[in-house]
Amino acid sequence: MGRLVDGEKRDELDSFDQSIRPSSLEEYVGQTDIKENLKVFIKACKMRDEVLDHVLLYGPPGLGKTTLAHIIAHEMGTNIKTASGPSIEKSGDLAAILSQLEPGDVLFIDEIHRIPRYIEEILYPAMEDFVLDIVIANGDGTSRNLRIDLPPFTLVGATTRAGDISAPLRDRFGITAKLNYYTDEELFLIVNRTSKVLGMPIEEEAAWELARRSRKTPRIANRLFKRVRDFALVFEQDIIDEEITKTSLNRLKVDEDGLDQIDIQYLEALITKFNGGPVGAQTVATSIGEEVTTIEDVVEPYLLQEGFVKRTPRGRVATEKAYLHLNIEYDNKGNK
Ligand SMILES: Nc1ncnc2c1ncn2[C@@H]1O[C@H](COP(=O)(O)OP(=O)(O)OP(=O)(O)O)[C@@H](O)[C@H]1O
Ligand SMILES: [Mg+2]
Repeated sequence: MGRLVDGEKRDELDSFDQSIRPSSLEEYVGQTDIKENLKVFIKACKMRDEVLDHVLLYGPPGLGKTTLAHIIAHEMGTNIKTASGPSIEKSGDLAAILSQLEPGDVLFIDEIHRIPRYIEEILYPAMEDFVLDIVIANGDGTSRNLRIDLPPFTLVGATTRAGDISAPLRDRFGITAKLNYYTDEELFLIVNRTSKVLGMPIEEEAAWELARRSRKTPRIANRLFKRVRDFALVFEQDIIDEEITKTSLNRLKVDEDGLDQIDIQYLEALITKFNGGPVGAQTVATSIGEEVTTIEDVVEPYLLQEGFVKRTPRGRVATEKAYLHLNIEYDNKGNK
């Protein structure tokens, strides 16, 4: 069903995440190029009194796509309405969503790559000319086309899989932004910000420890912060120090490089079951009982970026760094 959730109602649903989620570009840490460009585009369209061009945000989970969509609406001074690709199952779902838009609205469609191709076509005229073309059945077996004008709006689409978006849809976004993994310094700022918002102080060394072990991802930094806060509370500490941080992260099985259990399982399988590769993602996924989409969208992007794995035409290959990390001998050919 085409579900259109009003921005504010949605906020009530996850008030905790909402409280630590930055609401303006100023508070949004990192992604400097994207932020600077958006500032210019937003200012320009305010000067012209127009809506912002459609924006496509892509990148691995937890890097701040949804947050940025909300910030765009905030900076434009407009409302945000949200929908998600998988909930758009029929043409009517998308038509209903579009026909509820008000002038200037930001329509945020999460997981936009999951809209079926034939439904997606409805978006083309909506994005280009702000019109909705619908087909109405006459009841006698014939049908007629109806064209409805839509108010000017900005579509913000988010996806973890830019490659799955069709070329015609991708071409209709005037602004495309790829979100990158964060640096330790940026995560350090995010951890300190979260500490302030939640009113739970953290020592500097502890904040660095969390930053280094958060898989370069703000969502993970915040999630680990919450868990470490639990440990601190139960062990009656009113400040998060380095020791409680290390103890908690070890208990959560987050290792020194921030790799979690699935990352380790993946590397272990790649090296011990498949001789270091090359092997297909599906094969590794099956061998550790994970969905291939989890492997491709969540696990591999980080391991590739950190140089634990390489992608070759014949499949994934573990690097020397992966062998070293797991304390397995490496003989250059990738055989153990
Ligand atoms: N640049 C940032 N500065 C500070 N906090 C951030 C930033 N980006 C993300 N966060 C925090 O990380 C959390 C996750 O971000 P968000 O939900 O926007 O990720 P996402 O890219 O939409 O992920 P998914 O692909 O899973 O939907 C947010 O709730 C927010 O608190
Ligand atoms: Mg999101």
